[in-house]
Amino acid sequence: MSEWWRDAVCYQIYPRSYMDSNGDGVGDLPGITSRLDHLQWLGVECIWLSPTFPSPNEDWGYDVADYYGVHPDLGTLADMDALIEAGRERGIRIVLDLVPNHTSAAHPWFQDARSSRTSEHRDWYVWGDSKVEGEPPNNWTSSFLGSAWGYDEGAGQWYLHNFLRGQPDLNWWNADVRDEFDRIYRFWFDRGVAGFRIDVAHMIIKDKELRDNPPPEDSDFLLDHIRGQVPLYNSNRPEVHEIYQRWRALAEDYDESKMLVGETFVPSLDQLMAYYGQGDELSLAFNFPFLTAPFEADGLCALVERTEELLPNGCVPVWTGSNHDMSRLPTRWAGGAPDRTRCALLMLLALRGAVFLYYGDEVGLPDTDVPLDRLLDPVTIKLQPVLNRDAARTPMQWEASDGAGFTTPGVEPWLPFGDVAAYNVASQRDDRSSTLHFVRDLIALRRERPELRTGAYTTLYSRDGLWAWRRGDSTVSAVNLGESAANVDGARGTVLIGTDRARDGEKVDGALRLEPNEGVLVGEELSS
Ligand code: GLC
Ligand code: CA
Repeated sequence: MSEWWRDAVCYQIYPRSYMDSNGDGVGDLPGITSRLDHLQWLGVECIWLSPTFPSPNEDWGYDVADYYGVHPDLGTLADMDALIEAGRERGIRIVLDLVPNHTSAAHPWFQDARSSRTSEHRDWYVWGDSKVEGEPPNNWTSSFLGSAWGYDEGAGQWYLHNFLRGQPDLNWWNADVRDEFDRIYRFWFDRGVAGFRIDVAHMIIKDKELRDNPPPEDSDFLLDHIRGQVPLYNSNRPEVHEIYQRWRALAEDYDESKMLVGETFVPSLDQLMAYYGQGDELSLAFNFPFLTAPFEADGLCALVERTEELLPNGCVPVWTGSNHDMSRLPTRWAGGAPDRTRCALLMLLALRGAVFLYYGDEVGLPDTDVPLDRLLDPVTIKLQPVLNRDAARTPMQWEASDGAGFTTPGVEPWLPFGDVAAYNVASQRDDRSSTLHFVRDLIALRRERPELRTGAYTTLYSRDGLWAWRRGDSTVSAVNLGESAANVDGARGTVLIGTDRARDGEKVDGALRLEPNEGVLVGEELSS
């Protein structure tokens, strides 16, 4: 099927942390290629790589200095081509991470832009003048807190940076910027990339008049209160949709199989849905209200129902529980309880639509306790312990050996390992009852039972912490996130898989008792 992403199991890799092929303690592209067997065995269809471009790494790759290259720490363009080809041989597509909101201040475009007010790239960025002597042009705050404006001595103007000072925002009102990004898309599509994850997809175009943001009202989100303003004029602007229409048309010009998935970090589902357009904008839009919700049956059930209700015709949802910006799901959702982690994984893989797992989710890897003197993310250094992104970016744990199978024994990895003995791929592969096998078997079930991929979602009920739903006609999922045992009514057939694997194959006729933190998939026999 050409729109493969509609029900795909995708897997996010943080390239510096997946596999180090040359013993410098940093993961790289040849390393990823050498681990594709693991991903094929697991059954994932697509990999999203966090940014792979040359970058001074102020924001660890999200500050791009060249959109047409590969970061030397990660390898070469030839290594990228080899990864794409090796992926193709295994049925694994490669999706890159595009950062159109801003570049690195080290990007030659910005270097040129700041060189004079009449330089070729001056208007590629957002500049402003003080209205009050010495003050920034307006009150906008950076997503990382503090003013979103940096003063540039050279030409004596302020430039906008919605993130770090080293990440100047591009000016998406400028037609040349738009044309340049079309070229970037084509360059990578031509090399065989299957799509892009689009960084801060909701922010890229700003109010042309740079109007001040209003103060928050009581009913506004916590983050707005922390920032002291609602990002009305520097985020989620109506004009952004025209850009997605353009990009979707460009992608479909290749063929319908090119996917665009957006980091649409908007607080409400109503706002989120606009990014699908009428099915002519983003292929998939990450659901942050779901991702950031507490792991409670009622709330999650309501969010899933509402998502399904609001989705424009023919569009599909995308579910994810971990990424490189937040605490991993085994910690944040499951509080370190392995059974609860499995409930979360079962939920993600038994909902309708696409799923994104984050590297390490498959072994239930929790956050790593990174010592203060090893922290590398400037945002973590500023905001920890409230926000700790390094905790979720530590190296993949392949085996319980010196170097964890990630790097050469004796080499210090760029970020420290977590508990390698408790969470590693090799030991879990040897153990049929492990989380790793659980995830693999769930993914295999999605292949075997088409209704798990495409069947309609119907809530059966959510009560006392027990959430049960049906997929299609004959598959029922249930997770008990409450504190006491509960009965699932209305399920018939056989336990296809349980978080407690001893229950696999159990016959079910009407009622099934689930312990707290237990989940199951129950299915009637498929008529063939
Ligand atoms: C996105 C990325 C995050 C980065 C920010 C600025 O939110 O996911 O890691 O810091 O954009 O590019
Ligand atoms: Ca390396």
